[in-house]
Amino acid sequence: MLRLQAEGLRVLRSGREVLAKVSFSVASGEVYGLLGGNGAGKSTTLATFLGFLPPAEGRVCVNGREVGSDVPAARRAVAYLPEAASLYEHLDARENLRYFLQLAGAPCSDAAIDAALDRVWLDPEARSRRLGGYSKGMRQKVAIALAILRATDILLLDEPTSGLDPAAIDEFHALVRGLADAGKTILMVTHDVYGACQVADRIGLLRGGRLVAEFAAPPGGRIDTETVHRAFSARGAA
Ligand SMILES: Nc1ncnc2c1ncn2[C@@H]1O[C@H](COP(=O)(O)OP(=O)(O)O)[C@@H](O)[C@H]1O
Ligand SMILES: [Mg+2]
Repeated sequence: MLRLQAEGLRVLRSGREVLAKVSFSVASGEVYGLLGGNGAGKSTTLATFLGFLPPAEGRVCVNGREVGSDVPAARRAVAYLPEAASLYEHLDARENLRYFLQLAGAPCSDAAIDAALDRVWLDPEARSRRLGGYSKGMRQKVAIALAILRATDILLLDEPTSGLDPAAIDEFHALVRGLADAGKTILMVTHDVYGACQVADRIGLLRGGRLVAEFAAPPGGRIDTETVHRAFSARGAA
């Protein structure tokens, strides 16, 4: 089933075209990596799926329904991990999750919260410590646990691995892969070619607001990093 679709999407910000003719779709169980440099329009694309920016042309659909026709339904259907996840520094991991789940109108039991923290491999000893003392990787784990606990089928991740060390990135990708293999739909925005190739079933390359190339993993294999890197760093097409 196609969970996310962009069709001929054109988006203006402050009167300027920042997305043009963008079309792609993401099916259940798939990780789609939206790859692009700074200002390519990656976060804007996520914002349109969340109904924050109405398309000037074309359309975006969540679960087959046009976002603009029912924005609250689209937002209920997706868990969104923003570029800078804002969790509370003075609360511990469990308190943060309890608070944000309540805010989302989806309270969870302590057992469910701990199960989610197990799933993201957050050190049990750290769970009752304030986030103020956490590494970036640990914070991302709490944020992804929150996304998991929202129990949505679709996850939108905005540069979730930026600022993480290589070991934390590998762990994060294994986690994302596991979620997709369990049937979740994941749209992950990134500028990391290697990471995108490591985890994505398909990659869309966004440049200057246009989707200039798409790559798909061969059956049982991964997308070739060198091929994507060459396309990403190609000059003259910006
Ligand atoms: N709030 C905003 N108002 C006007 N223009 C914006 C705003 N946010 C981003 N833009 C512009 O939209 C374009 C795409 O930005 P963005 O989607 O944030 O790119 P990315 O996430 O790929 O770095 C950029 O040219 C950026 O300057
Ligand atoms: Mg961005």
